[in-house]
Amino acid sequence: MRQTPPPSLAIDAHADLAVSKPEFADTLSHLAATVCVASAGNGPDSLGRTVTATFSLSANPPSIVISIKADSPLAALIAAERGFSLAMLAEGQELIADAFAGKIEASKRYLVGIWAEWPSGRPRLLGAAATLDCLLSASIEVGDHMLFVGTIVATQTSAHADPLIWGRRRYQSLDRTRSLTLASNGMRPLPQASLRPEPAIAEEEAMRQVLEKLLQDGKDDALLRFTLGSICLQEADFDTALAHVERAIAFDPDYSAAWKLRGAILLKLGRHQEAIQVWREGRTVAERKGDLQAAKEIGVFLKRLERQCLAANGNE
Ligand SMILES: Cc1cc2nc3c(=O)[nH]c(=O)nc-3n(C[C@H](O)[C@H](O)[C@H](O)COP(=O)(O)O)c2cc1C
Repeated sequence: MRQTPPPSLAIDAHADLAVSKPEFADTLSHLAATVCVASAGNGPDSLGRTVTATFSLSANPPSIVISIKADSPLAALIAAERGFSLAMLAEGQELIADAFAGKIEASKRYLVGIWAEWPSGRPRLLGAAATLDCLLSASIEVGDHMLFVGTIVATQTSAHADPLIWGRRRYQSLDRTRSLTLASNGMRPLPQASLRPEPAIAEEEAMRQVLEKLLQDGKDDALLRFTLGSICLQEADFDTALAHVERAIAFDPDYSAAWKLRGAILLKLGRHQEAIQVWREGRTVAERKGDLQAAKEIGVFLKRLERQCLAANGNE
């Protein structure tokens, strides 16, 4: 039986007047967005890629749009399986973003990060800022991309994780954006030196158990340790958090987000001089790696802590 081709929308009426590709890319690099991973398929047949071209479409019915390169295997799979899942990555999940942006071949991407499944069987990322599962309700080919409209049938959100932002061709932290908000006294609040000390919630406790089980079963890598470290920090279990994050750094000495977290945990433990040393080293690592946003943030935390320590010594 012949399949009807998906509807398409021609957008080349003014193509001869359009700006150049570099001009397009330079300008659009200022359109900051949450880094997401879009997935389709089940188990070993799953396919996924990093995406930022996604937006909330409608509340009735709850719907979202993702834009996927039309000639990619993922676009074909979403159309065939009539659904997709989306993970909005959290700060610290840069390795996952890199893997799904093509740094790792398609068949090995789900080895990076801790993946479970939605009831539909589609991939569900643990430790993400938010995740959702969709049934395909419409699609249209526009230019070289497919726009897929998904009706959201399941969601999971984290009360603690901040979304990972992509803007001006690098990963960015929401903390910087948050510092733009004026406080009630009209001053710009300083960036927080540590993760917010909010109470742990049942979902995170459940995730900690899942991750600890993975450790017991022999899975052990930088991202797993980093995620566990973040959860333990949120649960105010600082010693365990430190042990996990130090293991993450042992696995990947260039993991800037782990250096940043390690300093924050030491600060919580009141080990200020060690926090200073760790952040100094972390800043060097981030600079060497070209992770300028992380270097900048660590620099801000460091300056503030050094100033606090100086003031405390002066008062003695
Ligand atoms: C920050 C970022 C955002 C991206 N956004 C999209 C997107 O919205 N849609 C898309 O189809 N590809 C997007 N890509 C490109 C794909 O992630 C990349 O081409 C793909 O993973 C390559 O894998 P493949 O070997 O499976 O084609 C993005 C890449 C990056 C780094």
